[in-house]
Amino acid sequence: MTIELIRTNDPVTMQRLVDLEKAAFGSGGLNVWQLVPLIRHGRVFVIRKDDEILGAIQYMLDWENRCKAYVVGISIHQDWRGRSLGTELFAASLAVLSRENISEVELTVAPDNSAAIRVYQDKLGFRRSALLPDEYGEGQDRLVMTKKLKLCGEEDGQVTYEYPHRNAE
Ligand SMILES: CC(C)(COP(=O)(O)OP(=O)(O)OC[C@H]1O[C@@H](n2cnc3c(N)ncnc32)[C@H](O)[C@@H]1OP(=O)(O)O)[C@@H](O)C(=O)NCCC(=O)NCCS
Repeated sequence: MTIELIRTNDPVTMQRLVDLEKAAFGSGGLNVWQLVPLIRHGRVFVIRKDDEILGAIQYMLDWENRCKAYVVGISIHQDWRGRSLGTELFAASLAVLSRENISEVELTVAPDNSAAIRVYQDKLGFRRSALLPDEYGEGQDRLVMTKKLKLCGEEDGQVTYEYPHRNAE
């Protein structure tokens, strides 16, 4: 497995990212018009096996706090879930953000998304900070979760996360 920051918008990569989004989130998935700006101006990381993208995570910066990143989304291909790829991808990308002076990461998740909350809370140490009722429309509440990284501006801040290097098959 390799984890990398996406820098290009080549058609094969874009199609794979859009397909992953559609499979995971249906009509709520990111399209190419949303993914390209995130690649160019945010951060998009993927996890690959033999050149095939198996999952992706996207971040944007928070305008109110330039040391805070917001997780736009994370998804792992359905055939590969439950094998720690999501945790590895998230942890590795957090380590990169930490080196880029990001001190806090925030996300929202559906309160009934137990697998995602298990990753965020139990495996990566995110804390529940708020519940936003009807955030995405009536009945679509979102749980806000946050994780502190190192202090912004700290020169030799430690990399908070290590992810296991293993050859998941
Ligand atoms: C959330 C997601 C990215 C996690 O990726 P993943 O590779 O499956 O994550 P991991 O394998 O690292 O960890 C998943 C954990 O959830 C657990 N889990 C799976 N289904 C679960 C459930 N219904 N209830 C509780 N825990 C569950 C797994 O057992 C595993 O924990 P473990 O390693 O202690 O056994 C993936 O499930 C996904 O793509 N979901 C669809 C998109 C989505 O919901 N994204 C999050 C939007 S906020």
